[in-house]
Amino acid sequence: MSKALGAATFRTPAEAYDRYIGRYGGELARALIAAAGVRPGRRALDVGCGPGALTTELVAALGAANVAAVDPSVPFAEACRRRHPGVRVELGSAEALPFADASFDHAFAQLVVNFMTDPHAGVRELRRVTRGGGTVAAAVWDYGGEMTLLRRFWDAAVSLDPSAAELDEGRSMPFCTPGELGDLWRSAGLAAVSVGPVLATAQYDDFEDLWEPLERGVAPSGAYVAALAPAQRAALKRELRRRLGVGDEPFRLTARAWIAVGRAP
Ligand SMILES: C[S@@+](CC[C@H](N)C(=O)[O-])C[C@H]1O[C@@H](n2cnc3c(N)ncnc32)[C@H](O)[C@@H]1O
Repeated sequence: MSKALGAATFRTPAEAYDRYIGRYGGELARALIAAAGVRPGRRALDVGCGPGALTTELVAALGAANVAAVDPSVPFAEACRRRHPGVRVELGSAEALPFADASFDHAFAQLVVNFMTDPHAGVRELRRVTRGGGTVAAAVWDYGGEMTLLRRFWDAAVSLDPSAAELDEGRSMPFCTPGELGDLWRSAGLAAVSVGPVLATAQYDDFEDLWEPLERGVAPSGAYVAALAPAQRAALKRELRRRLGVGDEPFRLTARAWIAVGRAP
């Protein structure tokens, strides 16, 4: 799946995203905000805001008037706007941000850089809209390792359908290692770059609670499920449940992401 097609898998209802990857978003956002050194009175931009997991936490920290957000997905940008009436939410892409130079103290991209059509241009834009001395920060899942849900998902998919290997986000996603993510930050001209791990958790009522949003086509993994014939879909469902070792009882999953932070010159 190309990056453009990957990005297209986020043109789904916001509520399906909330129930899928969105479950991890609040905890991840709080870690990202802490890593970026956000303080009251500052202004922040959420790039690739989705339905607004990070926007929510930025509003709690800074107030709606000090937060702006942007996303190319119409349903996600609309959901973010509806949820945060005082926030300026724009429809647009990281590669061409509709904001003036140096208009924010902090620019963020939570779970976004790997979906950008031109990540180098996108991160340079995050730097451009950040004032000198401000921070540019991102989080990317550890797709190849300890993002448990997606790792088990693609392992299950490939075990049943070897051709799914090329879709496995552990292989196909750029910037999902600390070295590659740090290099992207430095190549955008950011200084004092640090990259480190963070764990986010999600709570599920049972396996059905985890599986249901996948059938709605959200994210590359959901798009893969939605395209399967019913018998293959049922086989994948069984295999994922087996690999996760969960069933009809509540459970929690952890997900590791890498956080990169750099300072705008
Ligand atoms: C995994 S979601 C993350 C959403 C949100 N930041 C969160 O943490 O829940 C990826 C988001 O990136 C957006 N996106 C895809 N390509 C983009 C681009 N070129 N510039 C900005 N956002 C993009 C998608 O529309 C989607 O909302």
